[in-house]
Amino acid sequence: MKLKDLVIKSRSIRAYDETCTLSKEDLLELVDHARFCPTAGNAQALKFYVSWETDEVNAIAEHTHWGKDRPYPGIRCTGFILILQDTAIDDRAWAWWRDAGIAAQTIMLAAAERDLGGLMIGSFDREPLEKLLSLDEHLKILLVLAVGKPAETSVLEEMQEGDSTLPLRDENNVTHVKKRPLQELVLSRKGE
Ligand SMILES: Cc1cc2nc3c(=O)[nH]c(=O)nc-3n(C[C@H](O)[C@H](O)[C@H](O)COP(=O)(O)O)c2cc1C
Repeated sequence: MKLKDLVIKSRSIRAYDETCTLSKEDLLELVDHARFCPTAGNAQALKFYVSWETDEVNAIAEHTHWGKDRPYPGIRCTGFILILQDTAIDDRAWAWWRDAGIAAQTIMLAAAERDLGGLMIGSFDREPLEKLLSLDEHLKILLVLAVGKPAETSVLEEMQEGDSTLPLRDENNVTHVKKRPLQELVLSRKGE
């Protein structure tokens, strides 16, 4: 699959097939893509907490916010990859989020390549989650990635004037995600 098609295929998924479990190796394979990503100053200060055991996955899910809700039992993801900053290696906060974003999208693309789906979750309950996972003080959670086999369809559509940026799920359980047209995003010298 061409990279652009993979980017288009890789949508935010909020409904998963709970019967499709993941192994630790499945998650490590995804993380192994992020290992080769660029990081500011090549600091490589990101750490990745992988979770695949149902009890822990469901406990983590309780501390995440999917759209306006928490994930519903029955359609929860079957794995999590948490992206953390190891502040003992690099405590320059300006670089954290950029590094995490690059790693997160790379993991999402690797998941899509394997017909898995994912969701980047920036809205999570930090303190309970750090406590649940007994994380050392120097490890800060930046992003939570849900992973699993998608149980919903999400389609991209060209955004029209007045359209909402919020994804909309229709009566057929298809999520419609609007993307702005290319010409609206690109700036160049006036008159050219
Ligand atoms: C950095 C980042 C944080 C996000 N945090 C959340 C979140 O906390 N909860 C959620 O449901 N979706 C979250 N999303 C997913 C976005 O809502 C999603 O990307 C958007 O709806 C567009 O859908 P698409 O990913 O299919 O293009 C996040 C996405 C990004 C890039």
